[in-house]
Amino acid sequence: MRIGVLTGGGDCPGLNAVIRAIVRKSTLHYGHDVIGFRDGWRGPLEGDAFELTLASTRGILPRGGTILRSSRTNPFKRADGVDQIRASFERLGVDGLIAIGGEDTLGVANRLHGEHGIPIVGVPKTIDNDLGGTEMTFGFDTAVQVATDAIDRLHTTAESHNRVLVLEVMGRHAGWIALHSGIAGGADVILIPERPVDLDHVCEAIRARHRRGSFFSIVVVAEGAVLDDGPEAIGAQTDEFGHARLGGVGDRIGREIERRTGYETRTTVLGHIQRGGTPTAFDRVLATRFGVAAIDAADARRWGTMPALRGGRIELVDLAEAVASLRTVSEADYHVADSLIGLPRA
Ligand code: F6P
Repeated sequence: MRIGVLTGGGDCPGLNAVIRAIVRKSTLHYGHDVIGFRDGWRGPLEGDAFELTLASTRGILPRGGTILRSSRTNPFKRADGVDQIRASFERLGVDGLIAIGGEDTLGVANRLHGEHGIPIVGVPKTIDNDLGGTEMTFGFDTAVQVATDAIDRLHTTAESHNRVLVLEVMGRHAGWIALHSGIAGGADVILIPERPVDLDHVCEAIRARHRRGSFFSIVVVAEGAVLDDGPEAIGAQTDEFGHARLGGVGDRIGREIERRTGYETRTTVLGHIQRGGTPTAFDRVLATRFGVAAIDAADARRWGTMPALRGGRIELVDLAEAVASLRTVSEADYHVADSLIGLPRA
């Protein structure tokens, strides 16, 4: 067999570990060839690919980013996108594709397979950890670690200056990074897209800390958190999947906290630092397990499936199930954070 691989959407630590696992198992166990498509769905659309071998994937396990590069190209935005992909597969002799991505990339993969019969296996990836069907995606653990380190650093300077420090982290639709880094870093307020932000409650929680003798506070906010009129976007432009570029909610909240409480407040936006650099050991292992399961699925021609983490085990689930709905933070998931604030929500 000849298997193609692509990485689409926002990059994340662990992508190279998946690619390496696919190539190693494919080469050492199955004798299948692997080619890598460049720049997400642009590669299959334009037939832009290169051979992936043991030699060309050596040493990439600990490297962040993706040697295949990535993009937010959407084949369904082109009238002849599906035909172009079919033609590339034919010309390159590709028997099936492993698409590594999040909701958008796998949404395309699901449609290409379900509606057009193109043989595809998906692999779940996103630092946001919001993909359905799996309990966890790789990249999330690394992002949480980076955000936790940032909170630890903010703590010491917040304390020295008696300041409120707001940290804006990624999380377009789901607040998993904010929730987990906030709990791990001991944040005083955690704001996520799943719950509308109640600034009265936020300010009261901070005032209550002052009354208890703590004159600094850390507020972690996911970029997709909603104040009153939808998430804060930078500019009006959207990508090919219709997503706006988010950012600015931390700054707005910081200014409001300072105005309402009178406490000096500063905001830090962590941004792409969360997505870059070397994956944690956990992410390397999860990515490798997904990669091995994906090439096993391709070898068995289990097209239209995706390896998922369930109860600690890797299982194949239907791609359709994985993209049917996002996995967001429930009230039960948030309960731990609520329990630490010491101020009942109205
Ligand atoms: O991949 C998910 C994500 O990191 C989101 O958390 C964030 O909103 C988005 O990507 C940022 O995308 P870009 O790198 O295109 O600015």
